Amino acid sequence: MRIVFLEETDSTNKEAIRRGSMGDIGPFWLGAYNQTEGKGRRGREWVSVRGNLLASGLYSLSIPENAANLSFIAALAVSKTLENYIIEDKIQLKWPNDVLVDGKKICGILLESSFVNKTMIVAIGIGINIVSSPEIDKFVATSIAKNLKPEIKIPFPGEMLPILAKEFQTYFEIWQSQGFAPLRNLWLKKCVGLNKAIIARTHNEEIEGIFESLGDNGELNLRDKDNILHEISAGDVFFV
Ligand code: BTN
Repeated sequence: MRIVFLEETDSTNKEAIRRGSMGDIGPFWLGAYNQTEGKGRRGREWVSVRGNLLASGLYSLSIPENAANLSFIAALAVSKTLENYIIEDKIQLKWPNDVLVDGKKICGILLESSFVNKTMIVAIGIGINIVSSPEIDKFVATSIAKNLKPEIKIPFPGEMLPILAKEFQTYFEIWQSQGFAPLRNLWLKKCVGLNKAIIARTHNEEIEGIFESLGDNGELNLRDKDNILHEISAGDVFFV
């Protein structure tokens, strides 16, 4: 896997898409020690702290319809990478693409895409709190440093990225050869809130129900009190 590490860029997602648009359609990973315009979800800023992992993978897709699956692959890859530093039992996944440690957010994932001729290129942007945990969307956040296993050293972003890139590639190849089903099962095994009452907040409504499963494209399947099944493709989850 090709890996490039820059001292500074505006946003690794932007830089990866720029490189893709100029003809390097990946796969490659691009990390930076600093970002001057780190992007979070919904147009928010991602506070980029030196020492934290700031990186984007660039992949091209022949079947763009299921690009959303990549954020679940990214969450699985982050979770597997974190197991090198943090006790596995503390790590959980939260719909749609959060990774939690002891119930606190440790990572942000942001997918951005573009087209080069007829090929879709996707930047899989990943920020992992290694040394510092800025508050994210008013959620209490945490870091690797706060949860380190005994006898393990805090990693440098440059040494963590190849591990993350390898884990991502492994899940990506499973996806290419077997589809989303095996990854969905892995994700469900590690997720919080399954079969429990939750509230899903979408851009225009709040729905309370039981988190029943994950759809083929990563939709949250929520059954409300009137037994109606809602298949939610974007939103946030809160626990009742
Ligand atoms: C979120 O809001 O949860 C998603 C945050 C994603 C942050 C990462 S850091 C590396 C990549 N470059 C960006 O500008 N954003 C993503």
